[in-house]
Amino acid sequence: MSRSFVMYGFGEIGRLITRTAIGRGFECVGVIDINPSLTGRDAGEVLGTGEMGVEITGDAEAVIKETSPDVVIHATGSYLDRIYPQLSLCARLGVKLVSTCETLVYPYYRYPTLAEQLDEEARNNNATIIGAGVNPGFLFDYLPAVITASCNEVRAITVTRSLDAARRREAFQRKIGVGMDEESWRKAMAEGAITGHVGYAESAALLTEMLGLTLRTVREKQEPILNQGGRAKGLVGTAEAETKEETRITLRFIAAVNQEDYDEIKIEGEPGVTWRSTGTRGDEATAAIILNTANLITKTDPGLKTLKDIPPLRLQK
Ligand SMILES: NC(=O)c1ccc[n+]([C@@H]2O[C@H](COP(=O)([O-])OP(=O)(O)OC[C@H]3O[C@@H](n4cnc5c(N)ncnc54)[C@H](OP(=O)(O)O)[C@@H]3O)[C@@H](O)[C@H]2O)c1
Repeated sequence: MSRSFVMYGFGEIGRLITRTAIGRGFECVGVIDINPSLTGRDAGEVLGTGEMGVEITGDAEAVIKETSPDVVIHATGSYLDRIYPQLSLCARLGVKLVSTCETLVYPYYRYPTLAEQLDEEARNNNATIIGAGVNPGFLFDYLPAVITASCNEVRAITVTRSLDAARRREAFQRKIGVGMDEESWRKAMAEGAITGHVGYAESAALLTEMLGLTLRTVREKQEPILNQGGRAKGLVGTAEAETKEETRITLRFIAAVNQEDYDEIKIEGEPGVTWRSTGTRGDEATAAIILNTANLITKTDPGLKTLKDIPPLRLQK
């Protein structure tokens, strides 16, 4: 399937998505970014693939109006309140948009009022907006929900994502505080200068909704993993969630330099099952999931959607 797209946010993930999309036959008709080191330059020159005839600009409204893309792919930030103006503009312009924004994967959890507003703007203007990604958006939520298809009863779900941070992009290593001493790590985390993994609660909310359960509580916690010199080589994060139906959900995220790569989903139930992978390459998987979602949202009604509202996630060329 060939589609035109505008890339909104040309950081490390935006560039990877663009490169992957072009390789899959999508046509890049515009690139939006406000970083002064990018604006005014040709997108192909930044990608190192040669002139593309697409100039990077901060003027989102002009680009979208001039190019009328089939889809806007958005990758500028993690928190809906900070990116709201960008999404609101896209809603008013009536576009189909897929974003890597973690809190948009289940926007009704942390930002119920903004989510209602955005949903209304999107519905009024025939726009469709959805958050997706590898995590949240797949490993902690969508995939465990699919795996329960082989169970008659589920008492507890424990998901562990373990990954070697050395293989991830620089922006990822920065956000988990690699190289910081313990005191600076804790201060940066408390002040929001680093975020660690974002979206534990959103994953718990999407997973429980996909299972038809009602989320009662979620507790999120992150701690540094220190090397022998006392510097952070990564972090371990946990979310413990409970539902009204008393299903326990534990989401564990371990990201550190030289950490083993694997994902494990353990379902205690009838029958129980444990599923384990040799690891999911996070950045590449994010690009794939975003493009596969982009191919599916054209068939989705207008509004602010979650992954449970669209046809089953899968590779669709
Ligand atoms: N759900 C998932 O599984 C998943 C996976 C990967 C990434 N993500 C998220 O995706 C986002 C992008 O990741 P990244 O590594 O590419 O981050 P990044 O390298 O920081 O890139 C973000 C880019 O967006 C630009 N930007 C910021 N505000 C903008 C605005 N108002 N208009 C246009 N451009 C704007 C930034 O410019 P400045 O540098 O000037 O700010 C930067 O160039 C992050 O929030 C990340 O956490 C989610």
